[in-house]
Amino acid sequence: MSNLVVVGTQWGDEGKGKIIDILAEGADIIARFQGGANAGHTVVVGEEEFIFHLIPSGILRAGKQCVIGNGVVIDLKDLVEEMDYLKGKGVKFDKNLFVSENAHLTMPYHKILDQIIDKRRGKGRLGTTGRGIGTTYSDKTARVGIRMIDLLNKETFQHKLEINLEEKNYLLEKFYNRDGISKEGILEEYLSYGEKIKDCVTNTSRLLNQAIDEGKNVLFEGAQGTLLDIDFGTYPYVTASNPIAGAACTGLGIGPTKIEAVLGVTKAYTTRVGEGPFPTQFSPEFEEEIRLHGKEYGATTGRPRRCGWFDAVIVRHAVRVNGLSSLAITKLDVLDDLEKIKICVGYKHQGGILEDFPALLQVVQQCEPVYEEVEGWKEDISRVKDYQQLPQKAKRYLERLSELLNTEISLISVGPKRDQTITLKDLIV
Ligand code: GDP
Ligand code: IMO
Ligand code: MG
Repeated sequence: MSNLVVVGTQWGDEGKGKIIDILAEGADIIARFQGGANAGHTVVVGEEEFIFHLIPSGILRAGKQCVIGNGVVIDLKDLVEEMDYLKGKGVKFDKNLFVSENAHLTMPYHKILDQIIDKRRGKGRLGTTGRGIGTTYSDKTARVGIRMIDLLNKETFQHKLEINLEEKNYLLEKFYNRDGISKEGILEEYLSYGEKIKDCVTNTSRLLNQAIDEGKNVLFEGAQGTLLDIDFGTYPYVTASNPIAGAACTGLGIGPTKIEAVLGVTKAYTTRVGEGPFPTQFSPEFEEEIRLHGKEYGATTGRPRRCGWFDAVIVRHAVRVNGLSSLAITKLDVLDDLEKIKICVGYKHQGGILEDFPALLQVVQQCEPVYEEVEGWKEDISRVKDYQQLPQKAKRYLERLSELLNTEISLISVGPKRDQTITLKDLIV
């Protein structure tokens, strides 16, 4: 039995989708525990590309069960569309997708309000994905949210919808000067989604715990990344959930004693989409070069991702808050052509060196990265299948990262495809 949590260690888009797809081969169940349709996980199988927002990428593997846990916020319109998109690409949904009855729903007003609120922030905007994530989680903690199970009970749904619309329409019409939303349209649309999805809705905590007791292998799939964590990220430039490993427990209803290992997915450089501090960001010209080479455009919004050098300060922070047992280093091939590669090993601040990521954003903004430089390998590594075949200088780069992070590397990805993966240690046994 191996129960493994997979999390992002930077600002998201580390390549979690690909790594989950690789590991899913040896797993029985793949379960998402937080976030919502803000996620965009790309998996390439042969010549075909699949983009996932809510459904675990494990659905591509026949015979696996996939779970969307209570910690995920679900936009049913997106979920139904995603299922149709995958069906169109040949994916079969046959008792292999389970949705938690406790998961909260992202409603149309959540999306509208998210977009209005972020726009009104002006210069201080977070650059959210506009998918209604923050507004759904706000309602969840305000105890006015609508859960999956509520939708399946028409009276409860109607009652909760009325209460919510009264407040949201007041806000939209009186405060934001927009049109309100009619109850009838939503009611009909959502009840029809409920009909489509009802057979998937269940007590997923029980399902997972039973599977674990039977000795099955469960993979816990994180979305976003540690520096986007509401508690441990670059607040307020973060998402509204906890993408860190501990959230696998609260987001799925499994106890910490059931988790055996935590894998951190780490890009060989750094990217960030949306606003907020980014100490190692490249100069605009070089950023464009790496962006093109690494195809760094958001899978959900299509926005260009900001790119920078590997930052060991943020990943060390991720090692600690996630209790990482090992690392998967992705997109190493993107650095193939570089003469020299920089690694940020610390932050210079007021004459001293900070080793921990500062909590105060003003301090982050005043920090100057301290770089170490290593030589690039200047070779195409995208066909390498075995660690020993990697150029010496690429191995040196990886060893240095592992040393700085005090964590072993178990996987290396050298391209988007399944066979562009070097396994150093089997994580699912
Ligand atoms: P996620 O959100 O963490 O799942 O990451 P995304 O899917 O948003 O972004 C990662 C992108 O890089 C996707 O387009 C992947 O197909 C691609 N990718 C993943 N691993 C590699 C790799 O090792 N090399 C290259 N060149 N691309 C990769
Ligand atoms: P995956 O799972 C990268 C970012 C947004 C914005 C901030 C808040 O593909 O790694 P939100 O819509 O969540 O309220 O936006 O978080 N963000 C992501 N960035 N990858 C993601 O997901 C992200 N999900 C949210 O760009 O800066
Ligand atoms: Mg992504």
